Amino acid sequence: MTPSPLARPRVLQNVLHEARATLGAPPYGLLDLDAVRSNARELTRRAQGKPIRVATKSIRCRAVLDELLATDGYRGLLTLTLSEALELHARGYRDLVVGYPSTDQDALRRLARDEAACADITLMFDSAEQLDFTDAVIPPERRPELRVCLELDASWKAGPLHIGARRSPLFRPDQFRSFAATVQRRPGYAPVGVMAYEAQLAGVYDGGHTPRAYGVRWMQRASRAELLERRVAAVAAVKQVFEPEFVNGGGTGSIPYTAADPQVTEIAAGSGIYAPGLFSRYRDLPLRPAAFYACPVVRRPAPDIVTVAGAGWVASGVPGPDRLPTIAYPPGLHFVVNESAGEAQTPLQGSDARTLAIGDLVLFRHAKAGELCERINEFIVVTGDTDTDRWPTYRGDGLVLQ
Ligand SMILES: Cc1ncc(COP(=O)(O)O)c(C=O)c1O
Repeated sequence: MTPSPLARPRVLQNVLHEARATLGAPPYGLLDLDAVRSNARELTRRAQGKPIRVATKSIRCRAVLDELLATDGYRGLLTLTLSEALELHARGYRDLVVGYPSTDQDALRRLARDEAACADITLMFDSAEQLDFTDAVIPPERRPELRVCLELDASWKAGPLHIGARRSPLFRPDQFRSFAATVQRRPGYAPVGVMAYEAQLAGVYDGGHTPRAYGVRWMQRASRAELLERRVAAVAAVKQVFEPEFVNGGGTGSIPYTAADPQVTEIAAGSGIYAPGLFSRYRDLPLRPAAFYACPVVRRPAPDIVTVAGAGWVASGVPGPDRLPTIAYPPGLHFVVNESAGEAQTPLQGSDARTLAIGDLVLFRHAKAGELCERINEFIVVTGDTDTDRWPTYRGDGLVLQ
């Protein structure tokens, strides 16, 4: 049964307070492992039997990756960078697709020297210019063949409007087929996969009753219908050139839609595992907040205001209030308009300020999933109502994503 939204953060806050003497200095990262597991199951249920490739940038913690890869329905990793993929490969991870093009010359040279890594890591390409760049760094005659995933532009175009991420220039099925033929002809490259990430469906929340929400739902209905046809045609066109091992699509916010596309063989997802603040704004996405951070109250500038140290961990993307952290516990607090969430300190106002003492912890959720892990070295892992473990994040592991 899903606990009430407040019951769980209260338990987590208690666990933290009880463990306080054994913890180092705050801020603390906190992972509700029951929620992680529940979310993992919910994502696979939505994927309707298609495997989920874990989007690592949304996780950034190897123990969580291990947990997911040991769960039915999860297979392979979609990494943010090539150097991350190489690092993970060196630590025993297999079936890695780098989700974004790489111009990291050092990482490309390391890849070229490592035959086993070349066999397990797939690179992302969408233009001959990128192939030229790669060849200039690691000429084809001096390296093993590179595995290539071709990326299709899955955005939605309405007249002059471009809605979705600016990623690949390959929009039409004939452009996609032609680039597949280019890769096929180039010495030293083996086209093996296809990816089409529909950011405007997977990464744009659709909840609420505002004019924006109605506009988003209208856009998403139109985009879904258009992409379903175009992706089927683009994959069919590519199949005239090579038989893809995988066709990857989606993200947490689009899983049922993406899974219903007959050409898609696997879904990429990660954020839904932590269910950060932005993911509470989606309709029909019953996930449990799983990742939190806690900052201490350090002063009381007024009876109904407490100020916590730091806490202003604002998410990337188009700046706006939705990029701010969510105050998870206690509930009766809000940001002060003129200060919002600050770097050094964050004042919080509201009735629950009176219940907090200096040194007490306030629980927050980051708006986005993986970015939290760039702020903390480890998660305090809570199972049930017990503090069970410490899991290093990528940052705690020394694994830098850049
Ligand atoms: C290529 C690609 N696939 C999938 C995702 C979705 O991941 P998530 O489930 O974390 O939203 C992303 C995230 O940005 C992405 O860039």
